[in-house]
Amino acid sequence: MGALDGRVAIVTGAGRGIGRCHALLFAEEGAKVVVNDLGGSIEGSGQDASAAEQVVAEIKALGGEAVANHDNVADWEGGKRLIDSAIEAFGDLHVLVNNAGILRDRVIVNMTEDEWDAVIHVHLKGHFVPLRHAASYWREQSKAGKEVKAAIVNTSSTSGLLGNPGQANYGAAKAGIGALTVIASQELGRYGVRVNAIAPAARTRMTEATPGLGDIVKAPAAADAFDIWDPANISPLVAYLATESCPATGKVFFVQGGQVRLFQPWTMTQKIEKSGRFSVAELESEMKALLG
Ligand SMILES: NC(=O)c1ccc[n+]([C@@H]2O[C@H](COP(=O)([O-])OP(=O)(O)OC[C@H]3O[C@@H](n4cnc5c(N)ncnc54)[C@H](O)[C@@H]3O)[C@@H](O)[C@H]2O)c1
Repeated sequence: MGALDGRVAIVTGAGRGIGRCHALLFAEEGAKVVVNDLGGSIEGSGQDASAAEQVVAEIKALGGEAVANHDNVADWEGGKRLIDSAIEAFGDLHVLVNNAGILRDRVIVNMTEDEWDAVIHVHLKGHFVPLRHAASYWREQSKAGKEVKAAIVNTSSTSGLLGNPGQANYGAAKAGIGALTVIASQELGRYGVRVNAIAPAARTRMTEATPGLGDIVKAPAAADAFDIWDPANISPLVAYLATESCPATGKVFFVQGGQVRLFQPWTMTQKIEKSGRFSVAELESEMKALLG
């Protein structure tokens, strides 16, 4: 018995890296998987169908069930085709893992409009579009009287939740994905849809290409040492969040190696208050209590 027996799942950006590991584990745990990948470069240029096809072939060789999809997740019609492809191939949809992404790192003073737009587009809109079409499908099912037990797992990043210089575009998108996760969990719970996010850390072409990280994410020299950067370490948490009986929703988890940590949401802390409007002079004195 697999933890995902009978579940139909879409994993976006599953032709490589972390998404590929999700797709392989999902299939091993019994899910039928739509392996989505545009197959472009790390900056998001070009297309290559073979990335998704290879993962489908790997899954089939291991006795699992999978189909490939090559749509751009940030394209409105493409996102609809992606959701429809699961229903056409496997008759239903239970899980959406939003994982696809690109990088165009640059310090703010050098960042071009195109670098900003491309990263926000692929990550933030590329999460919203499949989520939106899947949500419509599940709402229809729920309204028709079916008991929906669906799950969405989004992919955020410490770059957005904690901040990382050189990644203003990427970090803003990833922080937005954190907010999207919380709001979607609040809106879609009534239709039987849980929504969570992960902030992973693993060795992929993305981290290998990041200045200062390339050396850190290397596999350990000793063959029997635990490889904390192995991207396959990320997938069990995502598979758990995708199970029918998982209770989690509206949560964001950091995950790396053998570690899973719950992120505290944005939260209000100390306050200053008076019965009327503050003057600037009053704030000059009172704000010391908040600024420490
Ligand atoms: N590797 C890490 O440590 C790390 C850390 C934090 C967040 N993440 C996030 O994890 C996710 C996976 O990244 P990865 O490290 O495996 O990188 P990766 O480059 O190996 O994989 C990303 C995949 O997404 C695909 N893709 C890109 N744009 C697409 C689009 N518009 N439509 C469909 N597919 C598209 C790419 O072709 C690629 O195969 C990303 O969202 C990334 O931002 C990774």
